[in-house]
Amino acid sequence: MPGRSQLLIASNRGPLTIVRTPDGDDDISRGSGGLVSGMQHALQSSPDAVWVCAAMNDRERGLARRAPNGRLSEIDTTASALQGDFDVRLLPIDATTFRAAYDAIANSTLWFVLHHLYEPARAPVFDSAWRRQWAGYIRFNEAFATALAEEAAPGAQVMIQDYHLFLAPRMLRKLRPDVRISHFTHTSWVSPDDFALLPDDIAAAILDGMLGADLLGFHTQRWADQFAATCRAVLGIEPRGVQVFPLGVDAGEMQRLGARRDVETALRHLDESVGDRLVIGRVDRTELSKNVWRGLLAYRELLRTRPEWRGRVVHVVYNNPSREDLPAYREYTAAIERLADEIDDEFATDDWTPVVLDIVDDYPEALAILRRSDVLLINSLRDGMNLVVLEGLVLSERAPAVVLSRDAGAAAVLGADDAIMVNPYDISATADALHEALTMDPAQRAARAARMKAAGAANPPDEWFRRQLEALA
Ligand code: G6P
Repeated sequence: MPGRSQLLIASNRGPLTIVRTPDGDDDISRGSGGLVSGMQHALQSSPDAVWVCAAMNDRERGLARRAPNGRLSEIDTTASALQGDFDVRLLPIDATTFRAAYDAIANSTLWFVLHHLYEPARAPVFDSAWRRQWAGYIRFNEAFATALAEEAAPGAQVMIQDYHLFLAPRMLRKLRPDVRISHFTHTSWVSPDDFALLPDDIAAAILDGMLGADLLGFHTQRWADQFAATCRAVLGIEPRGVQVFPLGVDAGEMQRLGARRDVETALRHLDESVGDRLVIGRVDRTELSKNVWRGLLAYRELLRTRPEWRGRVVHVVYNNPSREDLPAYREYTAAIERLADEIDDEFATDDWTPVVLDIVDDYPEALAILRRSDVLLINSLRDGMNLVVLEGLVLSERAPAVVLSRDAGAAAVLGADDAIMVNPYDISATADALHEALTMDPAQRAARAARMKAAGAANPPDEWFRRQLEALA
């Protein structure tokens, strides 16, 4: 029997995180970020909307099993956090299946393929153990397709998000031919040759799974073109329904958040530690694709080759812990800490610390760093968009210069006339770009920052969402 929702969102991580505190209570936090707030906004005008997501820890699995149909609104403690706007259906996917789908396939295989993160001499390895994890990814996608098929009203619009759910569109299409399905890829896409790293049958299954959707969204033309080229190379077909929907930031919302008292406090602390020095700031998750390690190498090269910057600049690196269950992530973070220490050992003086590295989950601090940055450094190896640079442009009071990877989706939005583009692997070029950013004529810097700020705010999340709904209808 069809369900009653006309609008459904599906994503691995949902808009709420629930963890159990030591005294046995539920700590419920609402997801932040452009995606969640944009979707939330759009869902509010759609009373029967439901957001289907995976239970990501034991506590959430327990709740999902207890709630009738996994609907969180049926549980008192969570209902208040939802403020009655839309409903969340949590899928109680068993822990083994979840770990296979999320850790092994989504984060260690698909994310790595889509961001060029492998060091191919020894990884990846596609063996029978990997195939067992892939079976978990299939089950995970089936759980979503089944739930969506149950919840969707006849002719409903179903918006499936990201690489965790590449197979779900085709599965849902088979269960419910009547619904309209979109899939949005928030990451970059790669060339057909790079995608061909995957076993042939897996590459074909992923593309076929995605093509079950009526509409396939990407942040930039480049990723859409590479996806289409991959379909031609792997499946021998020209995909239909591929469209570009760049996501920007909600400038008003960002400025409201940036003006919060806890951000002012964080900014005062930051000012006390950096003084009146220039700040090269960056805000990322502890994520390999963000390339923080090469960013530090470039900063070290800047200090080595242009001694005039010693004592006059601070590299402020904020890293929000992420995916810590994966050894590659823990090792990468440790390497960043070591390199930051080495730079301090080489250059620090009694009154100057060249690198401030903070590995912490502290949103007010992140916003304070963006407000205080003279230069924003975003040197991702690859990035679907990179919303942080757009947020920084909206928030900074200093008309920041931007040093930007040419392989971040934001490069297409901000443009090479205004951002200083770099090859993310080229340390010397990145060091030169930092120097150029630090020495840019103030009037030019202000003019460029103003244009980039306008470009970054051009596609706020609610419009991004609305355009997709229109395209899907
Ligand atoms: C980034 C990517 C998204 C992805 C998300 C998952 O934000 O841009 O494409 O969905 O990470 O992060 P998670 O913490 O849920 O693994």
